[in-house]
Amino acid sequence: MKEALLELREKALEELKSLRSAEELELFRVKYLGRKGLLSKYMAQLSTLPPDEKRVVGKLANEIKVELTRGLEEACRGVLQYAPTKVSPVMDVSLPGHMPPRGRTHPLVQTIQEIKEIFGRMGFQVVSGPEVELEYFNFEALNIPPDHPSRDDFDTFYVSDDILLRSQTSTVQIRVMQKQKPPIRIIAPGKVFRPDTVDARHSFMFHQIEGLMVEEGVNFGHLKGVLSLFARTYFGPDTRMRLRPSFFPFTEPSAEVEISCSLCKGKGCSVCGGSGWLEILGAGMVHPNVFKAVGYDPEQYTGFAFGMGVERIAMLKYGIDDIRLFFENDVRFLSQF
Ligand code: DAH
Repeated sequence: MKEALLELREKALEELKSLRSAEELELFRVKYLGRKGLLSKYMAQLSTLPPDEKRVVGKLANEIKVELTRGLEEACRGVLQYAPTKVSPVMDVSLPGHMPPRGRTHPLVQTIQEIKEIFGRMGFQVVSGPEVELEYFNFEALNIPPDHPSRDDFDTFYVSDDILLRSQTSTVQIRVMQKQKPPIRIIAPGKVFRPDTVDARHSFMFHQIEGLMVEEGVNFGHLKGVLSLFARTYFGPDTRMRLRPSFFPFTEPSAEVEISCSLCKGKGCSVCGGSGWLEILGAGMVHPNVFKAVGYDPEQYTGFAFGMGVERIAMLKYGIDDIRLFFENDVRFLSQF
């Protein structure tokens, strides 16, 4: 029996070295040290031995039990972050603690923050407006006629006949001008909603930043100056900007603002479709009808407005090719920013 015990000790110590998980530790405990384990089995047989032998073998069995228990505790510490009490009653308070992973701001929040700072340095204040909005602010006051396709059920989420989820942040222009007299310099970041089918470039919810500057004497040169300074600050000092004629009901004239492709520096690549240019936002001089809707005299005041998609801007800056990545909460994506 003594030999058998020594052999068991040998095997158990060998096995201890290979334990790698909580389950394996527990199996080991049950197999050797458990109530119905191998050691208990030998101890139960002690009574069959002559007294002399019983003393020696009993002592040996006890020593092995102590040794294996210690060994198991040791293995627990190596394998487990927190030794479950079932396996080991020992808690070593001197072990180093575990740092919980640190969170960080979402890349879209970072992008909005950076853009706010750039416009903030040019004297623009940050304002916000409601996401559930009256049709009046989303369309009518913005000179968008009743038969305009964007007013269609297919292009706007309606809550009721005259209440909707805003489809653009241009609504905030109207809300600000109704409350304040010029001079006005604001940017308005926020969520917008459109019933688009979700794919790599579309989402039913995304973010826009609206901008508005109104004063006596504001002209198209100011629009160009402010936006090109923004483009160079955000995308890098070598960024060139160009304006292409466009149409928006609430601006006249209107422009699509493009920057030289930040990835290929204007040479032409797959991101810019070979053209060397990327559209980053829409802009224009505020339409006189918009001023009339808020009670401003279009003969006295002029202004410019612009609107950009935050996801789009971030995708262009970081070379992200799928808008859905922003909303899936995959830490492998988010932790890169
Ligand atoms: N609201 C427009 C959109 O959602 C973007 C836009 C274009 C805003 C031109 C403006 C502007 O203020 O002047 O597509």
